[in-house]
Amino acid sequence: MQADTWQGQVPFGMSKSILVTGGAGFIGSHLVRRLVSQHPTWHIINLDALTYAGNLENCADFAQAPNYTFAKADITDAAALEAVFAQYNPTDIIHLAAESHVDRSIEAPMDFVLTNVVGTVNLLNAARKYWAGAFEGKRFYHVSTDEVFGSLHQPGTFFTETTAYDPQSPYSASKASSDHFVRAYGNTYKLPVILSNCSNNYGPNQFPEKLIPLMINNIRTGKPLPVYGEGINVRDWLYVEDHAIAIERIFLDGNLGETYLIGGLNEWKNIDLVHHLCQLMDRKLNLTEGQSAKLITFVKDRAGHDLRYAIDPAKLQRELGWQPTVTFEQGLEKTVDWYLANGPWLESVTSGAYRAYYDKQYQTA
Ligand code: NAD
Ligand code: TYD
Repeated sequence: MQADTWQGQVPFGMSKSILVTGGAGFIGSHLVRRLVSQHPTWHIINLDALTYAGNLENCADFAQAPNYTFAKADITDAAALEAVFAQYNPTDIIHLAAESHVDRSIEAPMDFVLTNVVGTVNLLNAARKYWAGAFEGKRFYHVSTDEVFGSLHQPGTFFTETTAYDPQSPYSASKASSDHFVRAYGNTYKLPVILSNCSNNYGPNQFPEKLIPLMINNIRTGKPLPVYGEGINVRDWLYVEDHAIAIERIFLDGNLGETYLIGGLNEWKNIDLVHHLCQLMDRKLNLTEGQSAKLITFVKDRAGHDLRYAIDPAKLQRELGWQPTVTFEQGLEKTVDWYLANGPWLESVTSGAYRAYYDKQYQTA
């Protein structure tokens, strides 16, 4: 959408201007696709710095939609954020931009402080300044993770909305801090905030540094499958489109000031999940049974590795009627099919070629 004719206003014919941060990443691109297609009167502005995790190829299928605009900006840069607010005058914010990988947070924690904490506070300040107390009908929705609650050690226990925060990695500490700032702005300045904390996501377009796409890519290219420690850590997996649907539901009907936990009641021990994926890959690639599993290699454990995450999504189910739409079997098959059909996407992100996409689409246009 051309910006010049509606500077500082909701564009003609649009009922909302929603600033989605991190929309070129994994979950953000699925969310933006859904919002752009399901809500033609919502103008969606995708603000993203295009870090290593941001890839405009994820947005290629909706890049020309009339209710979509891309804005390259870094949330650590307060002046750049203010310029985006002044230009697009968002009525709502859905904030996903973050450094998101635990292993990177162990290597470079300050990147996580800057983007996840400072970046979030910059965004809160910009919303406070530009909305200037006129909060009626506005929403600042902060997307967070179940990792802020730390590690579950008692079998049969679950994270709920009242679980105390106990982050254990630099990533989860930075997300916990951002959650606290969002709630503090809600309390202190009455900013209309709402939050959700979701379990591990999987699906198409996830950067192949995370467990499931890494394993798929390594099986595809015959590389070892690095399982940390003994593979006994447990994660609760949700298909990414079901997370996007949950965000849409909470954005539309969630109560301001509240938090919603999102999860699919789908716990897997890492080693069991990797074996399951190996069997599926054997079938998809016409390999002899057991061939992919031969690539499994146990490697040194992650420092401070959280043992188990598991979400109780009862509040979201009861109050907003949300349920996952796909089973794990269906979601995993869709995911594997997507990666096998999109070898060029994988090659582009592993080689770094995807970085030229922005220049091709936006700089030289
Ligand atoms: P991702 O790493 O795939 O994408 C992050 C996006 O944010 C990228 O497009 C990147 O370019 C952008 N970004 C990073 N730093 C930025 C900055 N300084 N300014 C502007 N943009 C920046 O992440 P994801 O997995 O899609 O996660 C999105 C959000 O959801 C994060 O807030 C994450 O904490 C949360 N979350 C993720 C999961 C999961 O399993 N992936 C689960 C629960 C919650
Ligand atoms: P990951 O996808 O990085 O998500 P998170 O750490 O946020 O849960 O990892 C999921 C689980 O898989 C986690 O317990 C770490 C483990 N893991 C491996 O065993 N090997 C790997 O190569 C990766 C990336 C993760």
